[in-house]
Amino acid sequence: MTEQKMLRVGVIGVGRIGKIHAQNLANAVPGSQVTAVADPLYDEACKLSEALRIPFVSADYHEVINHPDVDAVAICSSTNTHASMMIEAARAGKHIFCEKPIAYDLAKIDEALDVVEKAGVLLQIGFNRRFDPNFKHVREMVAAGKIGEPHIVRITSRDPAPPPIDYIKVSGGIFFDMTIHDFDMARYLIGSDVEEIYAAGGVLVDSKIGEAGDIDTAVVTLRYKNGAIGTIDNSRKAVYGYDQRVEVFGSGGMLMVQNETPNRAIYSNGEGVQAAKPLYFFLERYAQSFIDEMKDFVDCIHEGTTPPVTGIDGRIPVVMAMAAAKSVKEHRPVKLSEVG
Ligand SMILES: NC(=O)c1ccc[n+]([C@@H]2O[C@H](COP(=O)([O-])OP(=O)(O)OC[C@H]3O[C@@H](n4cnc5c(N)ncnc54)[C@H](O)[C@@H]3O)[C@@H](O)[C@H]2O)c1
Repeated sequence: MTEQKMLRVGVIGVGRIGKIHAQNLANAVPGSQVTAVADPLYDEACKLSEALRIPFVSADYHEVINHPDVDAVAICSSTNTHASMMIEAARAGKHIFCEKPIAYDLAKIDEALDVVEKAGVLLQIGFNRRFDPNFKHVREMVAAGKIGEPHIVRITSRDPAPPPIDYIKVSGGIFFDMTIHDFDMARYLIGSDVEEIYAAGGVLVDSKIGEAGDIDTAVVTLRYKNGAIGTIDNSRKAVYGYDQRVEVFGSGGMLMVQNETPNRAIYSNGEGVQAAKPLYFFLERYAQSFIDEMKDFVDCIHEGTTPPVTGIDGRIPVVMAMAAAKSVKEHRPVKLSEVG
């Protein structure tokens, strides 16, 4: 590939996810290079710039957005910064990859999506699980009618350990931070939207999570527009590791995805039968999906096609999160139309 065909990406935020995206763009995604990076934690940004030979580094994200050697930005900073960065990047004519969720507030999301649309830049939201080879296969099989009419969707999504309380306090709550991926999966797997949500929540893992105003355990019931019914169950702590399973049941069959493990060996002895625990957390479990989502983003920009996870795909799970939070608070089913 010639130098002219390289997409020059500026990475904003070099925390857990920013580092992954920068590494993938620099080393695993053909047709892209990282030309600039910014984080107010300047030393962290410098370390990454050194490791990946990124030529421009700053503590100020404005300098990345407005850098002449940046064609696209990857917004990987804390959620409360996403919408304003999207607006500024769009106005500067830069294509945008933005981590989920776009924002906690629909007015901010709508303003940002409006500016993006008017600017004519391409936008992809970081719902990486759609790119997991297993879940993608389920979607393709469902779309091909292999299980007939989908009737029941079951998503289990449990973290191995809760994040620090300081993170919980700014996370927007479990539905916006964690379940948001499951809300996206729920739509993606059967290609239908949800119209009503009924959620129950509890504080069963750590009372400090409750004191911070959040819940750590939830079961969400989804009623789809096409008549199907779904459930999502979440916990902030599964002692056996990152539990990520999916099942779609329909009139003509069932599709199921079990956990990924470091090996498939089953060990049997006089005590019992043992298998390996699931891969520890999202960086391990979804490593390939983080590469594949960026490949699609970069390809879409090179080819001028619409990215596979659009701004509206970013907005709807936020509405679902709002409905779930309202449902827990008011102990009743909530229609998505009530919240946005
Ligand atoms: N797709 C996924 O699976 C996934 C996984 C983790 C996080 N995320 C999302 O990615 C975002 C970041 O999460 P994280 O876990 O990497 O958080 P993190 O706290 O590890 O990193 C966030 C980084 O953003 C930086 N930052 C804050 N304000 C900034 C600004 N104005 N300009 C530039 N950098 C700034 C912080 O200094 C920090 O280094 C969140 O929105 C989160 O929801 C997505």
